[in-house]
Amino acid sequence: MLRCDIITIFPEFFREAFDYGIIRRARAAGLVETTAHDLRKWTSDKHHIVDDRPFGGGEGMVLKPEPIFAAVEELTGCRNREEYSPQTRVILLSPQGRVFTQELAADLSQNATQIVLICGRYEGVDERVCDLITTDEVSIGDYVLSGGEPAATVIVDAIARLLPGALGNQNSTMNESFSQDLLDHPQYTRPTEFAGLKVPDVLLTGNHGEIARWRRAAALKKTQRNRPDLLK
Ligand code: 6GU
Repeated sequence: MLRCDIITIFPEFFREAFDYGIIRRARAAGLVETTAHDLRKWTSDKHHIVDDRPFGGGEGMVLKPEPIFAAVEELTGCRNREEYSPQTRVILLSPQGRVFTQELAADLSQNATQIVLICGRYEGVDERVCDLITTDEVSIGDYVLSGGEPAATVIVDAIARLLPGALGNQNSTMNESFSQDLLDHPQYTRPTEFAGLKVPDVLLTGNHGEIARWRRAAALKKTQRNRPDLLK
């Protein structure tokens, strides 16, 4: 069982986030558990303040370290990163992180039993979170989101679907995009002719060798067009 704990100031954001499709089934089967925790639960002041102004000046607000430290301590049972078991990962979600990949998703799905996701907000998170209690700082791509919440749903989805037993057919993770540095080949279903376009004849022949060759060539062509960086 993989336990995913999400620390956020918007726990309601996750109310239905994991209630669909493969992830819902993985949760129902007891492969993964997802819990969104309200960061304000770990404040001690009357107004439940989680942010403050940045030292040195500048725009916006920074998430304070104390509530995040208290949250991670309660969720992991550890006071700092050295105490974590190797199966515990505490991930800060921020645009400054290393970019999330299928490789990291596979690593986490195979090696972690607890993943704590800290959703960054505002103009940042006090750097001592990164320095002392975080095992990974991760971004989902080269664009800026207003907070880490959408990134947390992306990362939990990508990991949970790789857990043994989450997919009907484990082969379906072997051919898919990025597991072999090539995008997936195009797919067709009925009708054989639609909007003036016919399904390629070779796919209707039942000749599996020819079909595999066509698919490899079509995948290469699509990769060349949409992701030439993958071929370099
Ligand atoms: Cl993890 N957080 C934010 N705020 N923006 C992002 C991101 C994360 N990944 C890409 N952009």
